Amino acid sequence: MSTAVIIPAAGLGLRLGGETPKAFREVGGESLLVHAVRGLKAATAADLACFVIAVPAGTEDVVFKELEPYVGAARLRVVAGGAERSDSVRAALELVPMDGIDCILVHDAARSFVPPEVIERVVAAVRSGAPAVVPVIPVTDTIKRVDPGGKVVETPDRSVLVAVQTPQGFEPSLLRRAHAVEVVGVTDDAMLCERLGVAVQTVEGSEEAFKVTRPRDLLLAEWILAERRS
Ligand code: C5P
Repeated sequence: MSTAVIIPAAGLGLRLGGETPKAFREVGGESLLVHAVRGLKAATAADLACFVIAVPAGTEDVVFKELEPYVGAARLRVVAGGAERSDSVRAALELVPMDGIDCILVHDAARSFVPPEVIERVVAAVRSGAPAVVPVIPVTDTIKRVDPGGKVVETPDRSVLVAVQTPQGFEPSLLRRAHAVEVVGVTDDAMLCERLGVAVQTVEGSEEAFKVTRPRDLLLAEWILAERRS
């Protein structure tokens, strides 16, 4: 049995600015998407057999050619993404093979520098029987819930809050069931499983699995890459 990975990479990256879609922005001379694929391949214990990448419509062929040298013996499929991240994941999920896959990872292209041990931890937890698994790190800010007028409604106890990263790992039939229902305002795949009443397991994430979102994140990405190459 092996793992398939879905990479939603179809976002425009408006918060990052610039003309190029976020996944194609370069750090250290290579796109964030290439870094993400290379990072996944480095997680050898995950047994990655299939990559399905959702990209902006019209870029499928060029992305296929760019990524082919990096996936080794794994199967590569590239599909046009949708308007929302969950639409992109759903489009990619349709191309994940039904047979021989015991874990599906969903991994943001923008979390390009996740260390291999986090990926392997997620896959190991799914293989140990957890149907849905997310990597998490503690939150360092105090988090408040506010009303539409900006007034604070409550301050949850920070010690029980975590920030959620990717890759998130799923038992394949659960992920298909979770995405069978279209829901608005979906920001990760685990929340679709929570709606089905499925318990989601957490494992330790990493500061290096941050999501490239704003311009200064590119500087952090450059720094991490330089550290790893030194
Ligand atoms: O916008 P955000 O940073 O939350 O996006 C997370 C990931 O989802 C990124 O890798 C982005 O390319 C992807 N995405 C997508 N399709 C969309 C929107 C975002 O594949 N319509």
